[in-house]
Amino acid sequence: MAVRNIRRIGVLTSGGDCAGLNAAIRAVAHRAIQGYGWAVIGIHEGTRGLLERPLLYEELTLRIFTGNVLRMGGTILGTVNKGDPFAFRMPDGSVQDRSSDVIDGFKELDLQALIGIGGDGSMKILSRLAEQGGIQFIGIPKTIDNDVPFTDFSIGFATSVDAAVEALDRLQPTAASHQRVMILEVMGRDAGFIALHAGIAGGADVILIPEIPCRVDKVADKIKSLAADGRKHALVVCAEAVKLASGDSVMQTHVDGEVRYGGIGPRLGDQIAQATGAETRVTVLGHVQRGGSPSSGDRITASAFGVRAVDLIAEGATHRMVAWQNRNVVDVSLNDVVAGTHAVEITDPLVRTARGLGICLGD
Ligand code: F6P
Repeated sequence: MAVRNIRRIGVLTSGGDCAGLNAAIRAVAHRAIQGYGWAVIGIHEGTRGLLERPLLYEELTLRIFTGNVLRMGGTILGTVNKGDPFAFRMPDGSVQDRSSDVIDGFKELDLQALIGIGGDGSMKILSRLAEQGGIQFIGIPKTIDNDVPFTDFSIGFATSVDAAVEALDRLQPTAASHQRVMILEVMGRDAGFIALHAGIAGGADVILIPEIPCRVDKVADKIKSLAADGRKHALVVCAEAVKLASGDSVMQTHVDGEVRYGGIGPRLGDQIAQATGAETRVTVLGHVQRGGSPSSGDRITASAFGVRAVDLIAEGATHRMVAWQNRNVVDVSLNDVVAGTHAVEITDPLVRTARGLGICLGD
């Protein structure tokens, strides 16, 4: 398909940050400027950059990327994971639909297309905005949780797994020295990919994921059988959204009224201590998983996604998301992405791998 009459495109990052976002922004700028001669406008703070007046943006020149941007965590554009323009909370507490302000902002910048780098929540919002505003839009999936459907990997996942594996590598010797059970709570809102991958790579004895309700008696049996075989320490990895046998997750209410996952690690630590008599210690890895320099895998995924997203715009495609499937960069329907979900399947080869290694999955 012939290159359409495009002069300027916008790029934004939306939702929680992760490692590899800057590598994707760099790839978009490189391909669009060098490959097509377009101007690239970096929109600051996700959709807020198009909502605020004056608009928040900067032109991205190749000069910006001559330094270490590829290697940097976070996002040079800034991001927000609140402020849905369709249900925007105003300073007086009222909730308003401000989607048309965002679309007006996009038009004011004289952009012909938009690339949005976001997770599943952001894809829903950006897809709606694009439809309403008739905006040519391509999505790039990112999230440490890896829960965007139709892609094997999202930007940020690999680096977060590395952070969790490093934590296990550091916990193992101290667990062994003190004969303790170490519990590592990792992120993963509703999806257990980080726990599953890190647990296998980091030699965990128990991996608990939200997709498999956790029976503490089964975890205790595993730890007791290790002890009976002479190994008096153990490593447990649990995802923050793990459900107890009752079906409940452990949540915390914060001063701003927000209810978020938090507390499953300490809860399990106490229950395991009670059920086994072992000494337990808990580490909550938290946002350490989101920061840091992107791994080579995330840099490669981000670079491939950025280039493909720009090429799709040049081809006239819209309402698509780039994706990684079977060692290939492909593009999928954004409507399918928005309607879908992605969690660990019980049939996942890595679930089988974990069981084959003798790892207890809490069931
Ligand atoms: O969705 C990504 C994620 O890092 C989750 O794993 C985690 O529950 C959540 O975001 C944390 O969000 P916040 O940065 O708002 O605390």
